[in-house]
Amino acid sequence: MLTRVPGLLFGGDYNPEQWPEEVWAEDVRLMAEAGVNLVTVAVFSWSRLEPRPGGFDFGWLDRVLDLLHEHGIAADLATATATPPPWLVREHPEVMPVDSSGTRLEFGSRQGYCPSSPVFREHTVRLARAMATRYSSHPALAMWHVGNEYADHTLECFCPVSAAHFRRWLRERYGDVDGLNAAWGTSCWGQHYTGFEQVEPPRRAPGPVNPAQVLDWRRFCSDALLECFLLERDALREITPDVPVTTNFMSILHGLDYWKWAAEEDVVSDDAYPDPADPDAHVAVALSYDLMRSLKGGPWLLLESAPSAVSWREVNLPKPPGVMRLHSLQALAHGSDGAMFFQWRQARYGPEKFHSALLPHAGTDTRGWRETLELGRDLRALGEIAGTPTAAEVALVLGWDSWWGLEAPESMPSDRLKLKRLLLDWYAPLHARGVAVDLAPPGRDLSGYRLVIVPNLYLCTEEQAAALASAPGRLIVGPFSGVVDAADQVHPGSAPGPLRELLGVRVEEFWPLPDGARQPVRFTGGGRTGSASTWAEWISPLDAEPLAHYAGGDLDGRPAIVRRGRATYVSCLLDDVTALLDAELAEAGVRPVAEVPAGVEATRRGAYLFLLNHTTAPARLTLPCPGADLLTGRRLRGEIEIAPRDAVVLRIEGDQ
Ligand code: GAL
Repeated sequence: MLTRVPGLLFGGDYNPEQWPEEVWAEDVRLMAEAGVNLVTVAVFSWSRLEPRPGGFDFGWLDRVLDLLHEHGIAADLATATATPPPWLVREHPEVMPVDSSGTRLEFGSRQGYCPSSPVFREHTVRLARAMATRYSSHPALAMWHVGNEYADHTLECFCPVSAAHFRRWLRERYGDVDGLNAAWGTSCWGQHYTGFEQVEPPRRAPGPVNPAQVLDWRRFCSDALLECFLLERDALREITPDVPVTTNFMSILHGLDYWKWAAEEDVVSDDAYPDPADPDAHVAVALSYDLMRSLKGGPWLLLESAPSAVSWREVNLPKPPGVMRLHSLQALAHGSDGAMFFQWRQARYGPEKFHSALLPHAGTDTRGWRETLELGRDLRALGEIAGTPTAAEVALVLGWDSWWGLEAPESMPSDRLKLKRLLLDWYAPLHARGVAVDLAPPGRDLSGYRLVIVPNLYLCTEEQAAALASAPGRLIVGPFSGVVDAADQVHPGSAPGPLRELLGVRVEEFWPLPDGARQPVRFTGGGRTGSASTWAEWISPLDAEPLAHYAGGDLDGRPAIVRRGRATYVSCLLDDVTALLDAELAEAGVRPVAEVPAGVEATRRGAYLFLLNHTTAPARLTLPCPGADLLTGRRLRGEIEIAPRDAVVLRIEGDQ
């Protein structure tokens, strides 16, 4: 059980402080009617809980929690530290963050804090402690929610306090300034430092900033926010050691190293907002769900999603009928133990007054509310799924250090390589084939996988290369990998550096392609052709056998894809990886969970098979095995039809 609540979790952010108390009674009555069993409370409530320094007003929150409990609803109780109150900002203006041009930001939004500020930190720990003390034995308390979406608005701060903190962090990492000079390659452009006091964050400078400095800054910013989380977590653990702690992640987020973060929390939770305007949004979101499941290797919780439209895109499309349910079932399919939303009741004011909610402005005689009730019923019907693990035979490698290095500004052969895109190039066809995928950090033991895919590992250490070399399964490594070490310095003898022996190849020159250009590629034997765009390389096989060559253009006749034993190196960005992928899956002995038509997602979670029709047409398919559809109670076998945007959740017969 993720929290103290059995079964699947259903509910959302509840902001009762935005409403008169008379409304609360209706809220809890309707929550109970919909089957809501968990709500996230007090996320942005600091100024209401502590309107004056040290002057707490817990009365209203006491009443909210009591009311929730009386109606059988538990609380994911926030520590309320996501937004410091006005009095703190006015007393200590230095708690507000400063941007890279040196401008201190003003109060009036949220996350107005400098992550390094000792004042901010001290006050958050004080508040977390006060919350834990007050509510330690409250029966509604099911989970702690620290902060909110760290790095959403405030990832970094360039103020003098942050600069001093950065210097302490660097001193710890490098010991002395010579260590820093060596790691940062300060002999370039005359940046040799003679003391740590001369080092600053990478603020706006006349030209490109040292990329090694930027890489360490990214590491530092992730760590600085993590320290904020840890301070609160430790305060909570001291007082309520048995209450699980989470902080809501933001899917695949560039700013925070979620491997490092997840190791520090009890429950992985995520906020996901697939764009209804994007017909492929369900693919990208599935990738982030698989990351969430992989972070701790088990069930996680979708803590926020939108019932219909959001309010922060330029054009905010509603979710058509059925899509809220379908997207919720998709999260369950990928390991979530519930479906939670932002927010319970649609706000009347503020920047999110047009953001959808489980209970819309227009009330209960709406399609929105009817869909809320329907989802509540479905989640109850699926309750037995809670806690079920997922098994995957394919792993995609994703590491934040490498991502940060790859997307460093202004100094790369091409700034068109974006890691999320590279991950999706491989993930999308795996998803379409119904092949379960785990994400794995570089360096992890990969012995459980039949196929490991490394879309890109620009930054690759000797240890990470050794982990890939000792994985027994098949391996595909994408281009521009093994280029630099942990300090962003090019490996001696060029890419793929420590992967050279494993891949049997040497990269002589990177060959980025101009925007819009297509580089034809011809596979050996059979003359099958393909193409690459964005990126290619001039490579020389050492003792690898070419699987494909570039055809035409300056690279004509050069090898494009090579294989050495179980490892394949792809030196370009193929426009379509499916032929290569299918061959690798077949050789690895990985089979899809079901044969499904395009737009139908097939996902296995333990003994349950989820079939989700993401299209607007009925889909026909043949079930790989008979079973009971938990959503309808019907027993299904053989050929079935799934209505548009509908789903089947099959408890497979005869399965464990
Ligand atoms: C999230 C945030 C919520 C709410 C939501 C709206 O980023 O955590 O508080 O703002 O977005 O989509």
